[in-house]
Amino acid sequence: MYSVKIISTGLALPSRTITNDDLAKVEETDDAWIRKRTGIGERRFTGDGESANQLALDAARSAFEKSGVSKEQIGLVMVATLSGNYSTPSVASQMQEPLSLPKDIPYLDVNAACSGAAYAIEFARSYLAANLNPQKPYAIVTGVEELSKLLDPSDRTTNIIFGDGAGAVVMTLEEGSYASTLGAESSLAINCGGAKNSISLNTPDASHTPSYIRMDGKEVFRFAVRILPYCISETVSKAGLTFEDIDWFICHQANKRIIDHVVRAMKLPKEKFYCNVDHIGNTSGASIFICLAEMEEQGLLHSGDTLLLAGFGSGLTWGSCVVRYR
Ligand code: COA
Repeated sequence: MYSVKIISTGLALPSRTITNDDLAKVEETDDAWIRKRTGIGERRFTGDGESANQLALDAARSAFEKSGVSKEQIGLVMVATLSGNYSTPSVASQMQEPLSLPKDIPYLDVNAACSGAAYAIEFARSYLAANLNPQKPYAIVTGVEELSKLLDPSDRTTNIIFGDGAGAVVMTLEEGSYASTLGAESSLAINCGGAKNSISLNTPDASHTPSYIRMDGKEVFRFAVRILPYCISETVSKAGLTFEDIDWFICHQANKRIIDHVVRAMKLPKEKFYCNVDHIGNTSGASIFICLAEMEEQGLLHSGDTLLLAGFGSGLTWGSCVVRYR
C-alpha cells in the first residue's frame, strides 16, 4: 500500500490580526463569550494587496523551496479552497508561471470545505499512486481560505469564528500502512440562508447581491462531535493501526470545544491534539495545512511521526487520513 510522506510545509498568514476586542467594538459580543464558546482569541484577515491566491502562492513557494525537490519532479498541484480569488481560473493553475512549474501536469482546486485537507491529500495520493508519470513523484498540496470576504458583518455567529490564511505541503509516497475516510451527508437538510445545509455559501446572483456564509452553529456542533470520532476510529482501524501508534491528531480547527469533546469522548491524550484555533480561528480548508506548518516551525514534528488528520465541514462532508512526516 502506498502511504503519504510529507516532505516539507509552508505557511502564509495575512498581516491583519483581528482580536475579539476588535470585534466587540463593532458588534454586540465580547472576548469572554467568544473564548468560552469557541476557544478563539484572535484571527487573521487579509489587508491591502493580500488575497487568497497570493497567500496560497506564498505558502506553496515556501513548502516547495524547503523540500529540496526540483520543479521537474513535481507531478501535481492541488489546492483545497472554497474562497479563491475567482471561480475560474483555479487557484492551483495560477501557480504554474510564478513558481516556474512544469506545464504538462494537472493543476486543480478541490472544494470539500473544512474537510479539504484530507480530500486533497487523498486525491493527490491516489493520483501519484497511479504512477502515470514516474519521473514526477511529488505533489504540492495547498489549503487556502480568505473567508473574511464572505462574512456578513451583521452575523455575529459566523464573523467571530472564521479567518484567513494558507498552509502547504510537498508530499510523496512511501510503502506503509495508509487509510482514508471521506464522505458526505447532504440529507442534513436544514434551511440555512437559502441552501439546504447547515453551513452554506450561495453563488452571487445576477444582481451581484453579496454572498455570505450562513451557518446553523448548534447543528454543526452536533454533527462535528458525532462525525470526528467516527472518522478517526475508522481511519486508524482501516490502516491497521492503534491509537497508540498515532503521534499527533490534527483536527480541523473549528472550535476548541469540539476538539475537547473528541478528546473526552474517545479517551485520547489531550497533549497529542495540536490546537491553534486561539490565534488562527477557523480557516476551513486551510486549517490542517496551517497546523502542519506551525508544528514543523515549532519543531514538534519528528522524522517517522504518524499523523492522523481529520476534518468536517459544509456538505456536510467529512474526511480523515493518516500520513507520515518525512
Ligand atoms: N457574542 C455574544 N453573544 C452571542 C454571540 C456572540 N458572538 N452569538 C450569539 N450570541 C448569543 C445568542 O444571541 C444567544 O442569545 P439568547 O440566549 O439571548 O438568544 C446566545 O448567545 C446563545 O446563542 P447560541 O447560538 O445558542 O450559542 P451557542 O452556544 O450555540 O454558540 C456557536 C454559537 C456558533 C459558537 C456554536 O454553536 C458553535 O461553535 N458551533 C459550531 C460552529 C462551527 O464549528 N462551525 C465551523 C464548522 S467548519
